[in-house]
Amino acid sequence: MIILGIESSCDETGLALYHSERGILGHIVNSQHNIHGKYGGVVPELASRDHVLKLVPLLEELLNQVEIQLKNIDLIAFTNGPGLLGPLLTGASFAKSLAWSLNIKAIEIDHLEAHIFSAMISEKNLKPPFISLLVSGGHTMLSLIKNNTQHEIIGKTLDDSAGEVFDKVARHLGLSYPGGPEISKMSEKTKSSSYNFPRPMINTKCYNFSFSGLKTHVTQVINKTELNSEIISEIAFDFENSIIDVLISKTLKASKNLKIKNIVVAGGVSANKKLRERFDKEKSDSIVYFPDLEFSTDNGAMIAYMGWLKSKVDLTNSLEITPHPSSRFIS
Ligand code: KG4
Ligand code: ZN
Repeated sequence: MIILGIESSCDETGLALYHSERGILGHIVNSQHNIHGKYGGVVPELASRDHVLKLVPLLEELLNQVEIQLKNIDLIAFTNGPGLLGPLLTGASFAKSLAWSLNIKAIEIDHLEAHIFSAMISEKNLKPPFISLLVSGGHTMLSLIKNNTQHEIIGKTLDDSAGEVFDKVARHLGLSYPGGPEISKMSEKTKSSSYNFPRPMINTKCYNFSFSGLKTHVTQVINKTELNSEIISEIAFDFENSIIDVLISKTLKASKNLKIKNIVVAGGVSANKKLRERFDKEKSDSIVYFPDLEFSTDNGAMIAYMGWLKSKVDLTNSLEITPHPSSRFIS
């Protein structure tokens, strides 16, 4: 079975082909960072327009790359939410009309679930149950993944997501968008910091997070400081460490308390090098899995793979287009 995955929930147009026996045959991501960079964040209307322009040429490019024809595709999986409404509509309309023209089914995929299960694309032996830490631009949450369809959210951010805070602090530091990788680059330039930012909620018993106070605190420090390259590095260093300290502490606590050894860390922030290294160093008895780096940030491969997992249990086939800007997984 060959599944075409389509991702268009935010500012990446991602397409991939997944073969049920051979795995990912190929994938393409077009990032719109150059379009949104000057605004410091994603402009939904510009994102929608670019998805409309890119979907057809990217599909043609992908099919050429893997030498597969449209008629060989058996199923289309597309992101139906959460995300920005306009961008979601472009992917949903494209997926459903293509499926209709090929007389195949189109299956709706939850973007968050796709991130969480993306670690299984390369880790063939990984299976639920596991604890998942999803850290992206839109979400930060800890879940107990019981099987391929049943999940329990055990904690989430009470305000901003970790990725959002990376992006905002980077902007105040004069770094470009997306901020996560930029903060990381600056932080790598130093081995210590004279700053000691708070580690919000690190000692609370619950598994919730809160990052907006940290964002405000760091922003106030930045506003009072004359920035130069060394100071930016020191701020980036302790700010990054603060987020990592909290994420690791809560996740390992959940793994220990719930006696679930396997942990999956996914979503854009999971691309963070220091986060990966620190989890590896501090994991104790737990086993921590990450998606391949190319599947950490938004991509079509995770959507195609989730389509494969979901195709075994739930196949809808209506032409109705009903994107969900918020996640059904969360409600
Ligand atoms: O999963 P994703 O691509 O999109 C959403 O579903 O939101 O995540 C994007 C987020 C952005 O906030 C970006 O700054 C962050 O992931 N990010 C990183 C890194 N790479 C991307 N954060 C920290 N370190 C990174 N290396
Ligand atoms: Zn995402």
